[in-house]
Amino acid sequence: MDSLIYTSRRCLGCEFICAIDMTSNQPLPEEYIDGYVIFMGRRFITDKRALIPRLETEELVKYCLKLLREKPDIQTVADIGTGSGIIPISIAEKMERELQVFATDMSQDALSLAQENYKLQTTNYKEGNFLFLQWDLLEPLISHFGKSVPEEMLITANLPYVREKEINSWLVHEPRMAFLGGIQTGFELYERFFDQLLAWKERPKKCHIVIEFWLWQRDIAETMFQKHGFEYSFFADLRSIERFAEVRL
Ligand SMILES: C[S@@+](CC[C@H](N)C(=O)[O-])C[C@H]1O[C@@H](n2cnc3c(N)ncnc32)[C@H](O)[C@@H]1O
Repeated sequence: MDSLIYTSRRCLGCEFICAIDMTSNQPLPEEYIDGYVIFMGRRFITDKRALIPRLETEELVKYCLKLLREKPDIQTVADIGTGSGIIPISIAEKMERELQVFATDMSQDALSLAQENYKLQTTNYKEGNFLFLQWDLLEPLISHFGKSVPEEMLITANLPYVREKEINSWLVHEPRMAFLGGIQTGFELYERFFDQLLAWKERPKKCHIVIEFWLWQRDIAETMFQKHGFEYSFFADLRSIERFAEVRL
């Protein structure tokens, strides 16, 4: 660490506290230097393989835990675009009953990090009850289940939602595919996700989908939910910004 000089405050235009790597003269997020973040009271490894987990996502996890406690019939949870695995691992570890859990991602690098976090954090899961699947959005689940789908399921997703024109200096540290949601609205990947869900003929009879996005996508999301006739509700982060939704179908 001799080649690092820490800045005492956040860099200009950067959401991370950085150190300057004197070898490359580039700022590096503190989380990549420390090699971990604390999320839901647990220590997760974080590195360049995946997005640095954001604290706001704890609100999504808390909402899901409440939902699972109110709905004991839900036995299956799938997290799409799992990154470092913080969402499914936190849910599995905090939940009083054992669930069948799936963590999926397009990126093999992200999945390898999520598997390391699983080994570090997950104390009592049977290997076959926590599966890591690679490929596009819902496709790994659709091919895994075939015709034997669960009756009721919780699907979580914190998919990339940054628009091309919003890419700035603080995002350069993280994998592009972890934050870039599309060119126009940043909601394009979510649109494809819901298209896949609707096209999934054998999908569970009851699906609860809990997603995270950014504030300007709330109205885009609402228009899409209404167009498809979904039942939905929004919930807010700690700054009272409505940037999470539960969709039921
Ligand atoms: C915003 S990050 C979220 C990571 C993690 N869930 C979290 O909350 O910290 C989005 C994740 O989606 C993955 N991803 C991007 N495109 C995908 C796709 N088409 N199918 C599945 N995963 C995808 C990225 O690799 C990345 O790990």
